[in-house]
Amino acid sequence: MKRVMAIYGTRPEAIKFAPVIQAMREDAIIDPVVVVTGQHRSMLDQVNELFHIRPDYDLDIISAQQSLEDVTSRTLAGLREILGVEQPDAIVVQGDTTTAFASALSAFYHRIPVVHLEAGLRTGDVYSPYPEEMNRRLVSRLAALHLAPTSASALNLLREGVQPTSIVITGNTVIDALLSVAAQHPPYEDPTLARLEDDPRRILLVTMHRRESWGAPMARVGRAIAALSRRYPGLLIVVPVHRNPVVREALLPLLSRLPNVLISEPASYRDFVRLMMQSTLILTDSGGVQEEGPSLGKPVLVLRENTERPEALSAGTVRLVGTDQARIEWEVARLLGDPVAYAEMAQAINPYGDGAAAGRTVQSLHHMFGLGPAPEPFSSAGSTIVLDGDSSKISA
Ligand code: UD1
Ligand code: UDP
Repeated sequence: MKRVMAIYGTRPEAIKFAPVIQAMREDAIIDPVVVVTGQHRSMLDQVNELFHIRPDYDLDIISAQQSLEDVTSRTLAGLREILGVEQPDAIVVQGDTTTAFASALSAFYHRIPVVHLEAGLRTGDVYSPYPEEMNRRLVSRLAALHLAPTSASALNLLREGVQPTSIVITGNTVIDALLSVAAQHPPYEDPTLARLEDDPRRILLVTMHRRESWGAPMARVGRAIAALSRRYPGLLIVVPVHRNPVVREALLPLLSRLPNVLISEPASYRDFVRLMMQSTLILTDSGGVQEEGPSLGKPVLVLRENTERPEALSAGTVRLVGTDQARIEWEVARLLGDPVAYAEMAQAINPYGDGAAAGRTVQSLHHMFGLGPAPEPFSSAGSTIVLDGDSSKISA
């Protein structure tokens, strides 16, 4: 048996790790150990409960106004003993959070190989998203195995000199999670959202949390939403607000008293998938939602200046709209008022995964341990590259 330690701490990592942990549990070779840093608390716990995951270790590092230094130093301190005692054969981290970076660094200090899920995403701007673009670049320097979700992310790694033999294109495990949850049709569990059950109105779903948008950009988005609520009284705007107090203080005063704006606590993943499916349009700065919306055929307007997820942008189901109030209002009005423009964006496409990424992840671990062949890479139509052991021979 090979002991493989999954380490994660936030909501999106928990969602993207869940199918991998399930696949590792069912595997005959891998013995998984689950460690949560607790960078998030309620938002993390609800995902673990949904997927029946009980962590073996919980560092419980969260604090009310945590700084990046707090998360980094508490993760390093908390993992020191656990890694020393458990001595896993590999650790796995996901994405670009500070939990992922600090855990990879900690494993490196213990000379334990690091496997990086969702490797190779890049915007090219180290301050956007901040600090995530730097976190994921640093994890790439520390990792021994890079599990890139798409061909484009694999190419980013090759351009940075990562050895082709250490890259596998797996698809994104978020699509595994999404497909499994979307196949169930349970009623909403949150009483605030339950009133949407038979609501025939068109829904504009909004989420926002990114650090680079704190302050003026977030206030502009809040004002755009308030203006849209007045302009479209028949539209229902649903805003599950992130637990971060900075986000709450920015958005709630602008949105709380509008009759057609429904504010809720962060939705459970089950409720959120249902909400996405019921929505007409999604306005977000989230990474994961940019991957899920296209899969569900929902147009996504991204409240950012750039994205590390170019695939759905090229396919036309996602548009970057930034945080300018007038631009946001214009883009939403265009989609609500022009059925042709709407239909052009509302295409169900799956550039990020096919629901089998967790299986490829486990097979890639076997391969890394010398216990099996590498998996066939994930390919979304027309975007395959061949990693044949020599980066000079990349065929796109
Ligand atoms: C973090 C990640 C970001 C990811 C996001 C997903 C970093 C630097 N940022 O950002 O990449 O996109 O999670 O949501 O790793 N809080 C709670 N309960 C919770 C969760 C958060 O109270 O369950 C509050 C706490 O006051 C905490 C604050 O939110 O101090 C900020 O959390 P933090 O993880 O530092 O930053 P996020 O903005 O959530
Ligand atoms: N999500 C959720 N409840 C919500 C908002 C988002 O379950 O109220 C899910 C969403 O479906 C996606 C993930 O959380 O899978 C994205 O998390 P977030 O936007 O916090 O982080 P990011 O993806 O930007 O890192």
